[in-house]
Amino acid sequence: MQKKRTILYVESDDHGGNIRGLMSPDTRLPDDNLILELANDEDLSFTEAELMVISDPKEFDYCYHSPKLRSFQLYLNKLRNRNLEWLVDLSAGDEILYLHLGDITQGQKYVSDWVTTRIGDQFLIALANHRPIMELPNLKAARYVEGTSSHVFGDGTSGGVVTAQLKAEYPEIDVKPIHHGLIEYNGLLIDCAHHGPGPGSRKWLEGNIASYYIRDRMMKDLLRGRNPADLFLRAHFHTWARAFWNISIDDKDYISEICLMPSMCGLNCYGRQVTKSVEQITNGALAFEIYGDKILDVHRWTKTLDLRNYEVIA
Ligand SMILES: [Fe+2]
Ligand SMILES: [Fe+2]
Repeated sequence: MQKKRTILYVESDDHGGNIRGLMSPDTRLPDDNLILELANDEDLSFTEAELMVISDPKEFDYCYHSPKLRSFQLYLNKLRNRNLEWLVDLSAGDEILYLHLGDITQGQKYVSDWVTTRIGDQFLIALANHRPIMELPNLKAARYVEGTSSHVFGDGTSGGVVTAQLKAEYPEIDVKPIHHGLIEYNGLLIDCAHHGPGPGSRKWLEGNIASYYIRDRMMKDLLRGRNPADLFLRAHFHTWARAFWNISIDDKDYISEICLMPSMCGLNCYGRQVTKSVEQITNGALAFEIYGDKILDVHRWTKTLDLRNYEVIA
């Protein structure tokens, strides 16, 4: 098999529709038809400048508006745009594979986090987030892993709806929703799912559970007479971690790696509770440089913020 270079680009947990989740400035949400009527009203008609603020006059047969981005969303967009620029540079014209590790929308459970109360807006926000992926030059295929039930309206609804619409808009792109993937690409085996091990509850335990997890999965596949995955990708905890394991049998080493994905979403009140007031948050994406059936390098394009409010009271 001829060796070729590919970039596997992985993102996760953008929670579209969450006030601290990824939301593109290109998002367009339906507005009230009342605006349309007012625009045609002789006494109360809008000026051109006012219409630009409300909606694009070119689309005035049905009104849309661009929701205002909150501070964390502005930050995430800058990070996302930087990463997509770096991805195009790194790929240098070689094939790009895209994996989304779940929670593409915010879902119905945590109402206080919603951008709007209209459920359909979450799919429109997710679509606007993912059109730039479909427009990447050299995109070979994109797979969307199912997220947590409460964030995807149960049974993978969000991934199904979003990928169906992306497929309609970009029929030439190989895009599909999946539950738990086992993807073989040029001999490299990738096991990808949303749920998996946690990152570890103490600094000195980081990656411990993850290494036990892949040790178990590797042994199970070896006992079945199958090659274990070279790369395991998991998400859900919104926290970066990485671990490796090596199993030697006779004269062969089986080496696997696991990466836990950082999110593209901020922390809410519930998040502070379940993380026991974590002091930092890491957001971003991963880019795996693959040559033949080997991972040459893992580029961690993340940014870590301190969540504590530092102040000196004099
Ligand atoms: Fe999530
Ligand atoms: Fe999740």
